Amino acid sequence: LIEDGRITAVGKTRDVLAQFEKTMVNRNPAFSGDGENSVRGKKPGFFSHRDFLSSTQADVVVIDAAGKAVLPGFVDSHTHFVFGGYRAEEFSWRLQGRGYMEIMKRGGGILNTVKATRKAAKSELTEAGLKRLDSMLSFGVTTVEGKSGYGLDHNTEIRQLEVMAELDRHHPVDIVRTFLGAHTVPPEYKGKEDRFVDFMKDTVMPEVVRQNLAEFCDIFCEKNVFSIQQSERMLRSAKAQGLKLKIHADEMVSLGGAELAAKLGAVSADHLLQSSDKGIRDMAKAGVVATLLPGTAFSLKEPYARGRYMIDNNCAVALATDMNPGSCFTESVPLIIALAALYMNITPEEAITALTINGAAAIDRADTIGSLDPGKLGDVIILEFPSYQYIPYHIGVSTVEKVIKKGRLVFD
Ligand code: NIG
Ligand code: FE
Repeated sequence: LIEDGRITAVGKTRDVLAQFEKTMVNRNPAFSGDGENSVRGKKPGFFSHRDFLSSTQADVVVIDAAGKAVLPGFVDSHTHFVFGGYRAEEFSWRLQGRGYMEIMKRGGGILNTVKATRKAAKSELTEAGLKRLDSMLSFGVTTVEGKSGYGLDHNTEIRQLEVMAELDRHHPVDIVRTFLGAHTVPPEYKGKEDRFVDFMKDTVMPEVVRQNLAEFCDIFCEKNVFSIQQSERMLRSAKAQGLKLKIHADEMVSLGGAELAAKLGAVSADHLLQSSDKGIRDMAKAGVVATLLPGTAFSLKEPYARGRYMIDNNCAVALATDMNPGSCFTESVPLIIALAALYMNITPEEAITALTINGAAAIDRADTIGSLDPGKLGDVIILEFPSYQYIPYHIGVSTVEKVIKKGRLVFD
């Protein structure tokens, strides 16, 4: 039962109907009178679907999900979905054996998207963003995290975040914004990496914070991108400026990103393909959510993160798409769940946990979304099949029949 956008009861039909009965009587005492909609005289629990439907005083919508699995909406806690241009030719180069980092070093990769995003008008970014959000919604995503990081200059970083704020107002999917100004070093700062970090933290970040454009700060901590020292400098400043922390860590090289995330009290550390045993233990102890992105490992033909080991060592594991134009161009939540189940030894139950309540924890929203509990937002998906087991089984294809966002049917 969802009222005013929030879940008020969950359980067996008769218990939920009993709760509804109480709400109706509270709202309209006439409801308990002698009229057609009266509940007086009915034995408790005798309030039926039919009564429900005939309760003309209320604008009640009844959705019959008999024989279908009902789950919390998915939380995709790591994406880069606002960008200009595409990089299909790079995908082909990678198929011919070129590495992701090699393409990046030659000025391709992220910088390619930076060029296109700097050129793109706000309206183009918004238009494209809307389409991608529609696609995410069709996979059952009700909340998504989105990062900047394709501007790497003041105006474009701000523009990307503004586009997300605008999309959040106009699209049912909720958007949580992350400032990723330190995604890579732009050509104008080549060889002056430290100065670029200073520019981002001392000039752009204060503006992002002043305009309330982001809740999180993230950085691509990686060999030949930003070092551990640079990452620490950037993230410490972000924390001091009131942002919560995320980090792209240990993706290609075991650099100590997981350890740094634990040391700084980051909300999540993401990728973690090469994280050390100690890094994983540190994260578990510090309560950092390990956000794993198996679609990226798949797309880049890299080894998968050690999801099983992390769970067995008490890490909270979230899974996300990493949707972006380079390393993983997909919105497919079921593909991510299938990859986690097939290649990370994560059970379907753990994978769904990783995309719901743990995804919510990865964006610091575990108290309001991510599970079907009274008090939480009415974000619910209904599958066309009777069990969640169909999600990894129907590989990559959406089995979501209906999406309810804050109590409203938004995809059918
Ligand atoms: O999470 N690893 C760095 N950043 C993104 C990829 C961005 C891109 O290639 O455009 C990621 O995989
Ligand atoms: Fe990413």
